[in-house]
Amino acid sequence: MARILLGVSGGIAAYKALELVRLATRAGHAVRVVQTPASERFVGRASFAALTGAPVLLDEFEPDPARGAFPGDPPPAHDPLSHLELVANADVYVVAPASANTIGKLAHGLADNLLTSAALAATCPLLVAPAMNNHMWEHPATRANVEALRARGAAILAPGTGALASKGEHGAGRLAEPAEILAAIEKLVPAEGPGPLDGLTVLVTAGGTREPIDSVRYIGNRSSGRMGFALAGVAARLGAQVTVVAANVADLPRDPRVTYVDVQTAGELLDAARARFAASDVLLMAAAVVDFRPADARTDTKLKKQDGQDDMTLALARTPDILATLGAERRDGQTLVGFAAEHGDGALAYGRAKLRAKGVDAIVVNDIARTDIGFDSAANEVTIVTAAGETPVPRAPKPEVARAILDVVVGLRAQAVMRP
Ligand code: CTP
Repeated sequence: MARILLGVSGGIAAYKALELVRLATRAGHAVRVVQTPASERFVGRASFAALTGAPVLLDEFEPDPARGAFPGDPPPAHDPLSHLELVANADVYVVAPASANTIGKLAHGLADNLLTSAALAATCPLLVAPAMNNHMWEHPATRANVEALRARGAAILAPGTGALASKGEHGAGRLAEPAEILAAIEKLVPAEGPGPLDGLTVLVTAGGTREPIDSVRYIGNRSSGRMGFALAGVAARLGAQVTVVAANVADLPRDPRVTYVDVQTAGELLDAARARFAASDVLLMAAAVVDFRPADARTDTKLKKQDGQDDMTLALARTPDILATLGAERRDGQTLVGFAAEHGDGALAYGRAKLRAKGVDAIVVNDIARTDIGFDSAANEVTIVTAAGETPVPRAPKPEVARAILDVVVGLRAQAVMRP
């Protein structure tokens, strides 16, 4: 857990700073935000205050109701100078988005607002994530300012290339993705000692397979990949080396610490997972694998309907049961976790049966009769079934559910070591 001081300067990309705060707080970090007055034109302080659970400051002269303390810490008895106390308590100062103007001021040591004064007062590592129009980013003045900051030891998270805020504009200048910024922050923050998954290799499958009918149609399912991606991110944070075999997950941010292998069908998922399974210590099989595929897929053409045709019969063939296949090939020292999406009553009994049938150490049961959790949702509520019993995990954001699942994995591995 780190105390992250986030400085938000003015620019369209300020909205991405909200997502950064969400990701950081969910990962267990305490976040305080200072904003430049210009940034309030893009995102108001109420949004940051709601997400951090702490007051947001804009002015060096405004009193800090939290007296410089981070969420979770007790405030001091005296009333300190807000910018001095806040930066003194921070483990890292992140300026994201950093506008060209703010970068210029930071490079030259100006202190004309709270964000820049805090930067001068900060003794912790400084991370600058620029965002601006491509011409401003490429201007020699900005280049020189960035180099000056870098030369003084600031970490610069280079902006990405792509569509920019103004219509039709394209080039370098997009703020790095929030997940990337968080990974850069976590690199700068002093490690808290060994993580519970240090030295372990974790293989995660995520998303849902698609089995082609013809060149444009497929049989698929509603799995978004969120649960698998959350497991991967949390496992990486806990020290593991993580690979995700991702089935059709196009829209989720990717964690720079994680290796991704993209696949589409159950057959491809089996090949990709099998190639990495023997070297893995933990398998988290969160992907929703389609059980039946069209037996005679015509991927070279688009099937045409005939005049007067009212129905169509599709012959289906079983796909491989990947978890059962890998379960049969498992070696000592591996921990296997399966997932079961079940409807309402009897969900737990199915979970228990699958634990035995698939030869795994835990099954995470998820009741898909509920509409407020699971598919496409950012939250989940599960019961983790192991040979020893059941662990209910109340409704929570998927990264928190992921943490609970990984805690069970750590517990199972500790028991396995203690067994004679
Ligand atoms: N699984 C798999 N290969 C398949 C089907 C499922 O590896 N062909 C894995 C899933 O990734 C998940 C677990 O097995 O971890 C789910 O088991 P299962 O109940 O067989 O999947 P469903 O098809 O959802 O369930 P049902 O048997 O009820 O149809």
